[in-house]
Amino acid sequence: MADPAVILAISGSLRAESYNTELLAEAVSVAPPAARLVTWGDLVSIPAFSEDNENDAGPAVHALRAAIAGAGAVLIATPEYNGSLPGQLKNALDWASRPFPDNVLRDKPVAIIGASPSPGGTARAQTDARKVLTAIGARVLQAEVLVPHAYRQFDSTGRLVDDDLRHQLERLVAELHTCGLTAGDETNATAA
Ligand SMILES: Cc1cc2nc3c(=O)[nH]c(=O)nc-3n(C[C@H](O)[C@H](O)[C@H](O)COP(=O)(O)O)c2cc1C
Repeated sequence: MADPAVILAISGSLRAESYNTELLAEAVSVAPPAARLVTWGDLVSIPAFSEDNENDAGPAVHALRAAIAGAGAVLIATPEYNGSLPGQLKNALDWASRPFPDNVLRDKPVAIIGASPSPGGTARAQTDARKVLTAIGARVLQAEVLVPHAYRQFDSTGRLVDDDLRHQLERLVAELHTCGLTAGDETNATAA
């Protein structure tokens, strides 16, 4: 049973000093008081997906699926690797997509954000992440936040220094929170 107020925050980076993980921490700071951002941080434990083993997913995949199922919405911060989303994030999404079509991401509101040192700010990675999540059946928000030149965007406490970017993030998290609550209402109405 999902808690509609919970937004599951997933960083697509495995890096200790990740800009994308930092961006999710900022999302926690700007979230509306009624929203509860819960970070899922075990991307490193997700095994390589194989259809041969998909009925023997293992504890990390079960935990990921349970965390998604328990949330009203999901916020993904993706790095950009070679013009796309990182392989381990795609791999985790492939696991979450099974069984298809009744997977835990189906009709789940999802927002995508990202930070990169390059001027593009993960635009290409976000386009691909959007394509993948749409194929899985998630309800992907149009709103996005692109953080270019990430090395100069955070102060020493991890706050975004650019007011416009911070407000964009604030608006996106608020919209995602509302979508999570609404999706919960729709699910309850269907069940009743
Ligand atoms: C294999 C590899 C490929 C990369 N390709 C891109 C790219 O296509 N576009 C880009 O903006 N940054 C690229 N980068 C730089 C990453 O955006 C940068 O390492 C970033 O800090 C990763 O995100 P993180 O800080 O959240 O770990 C690449 C880095 C690596 C290691």
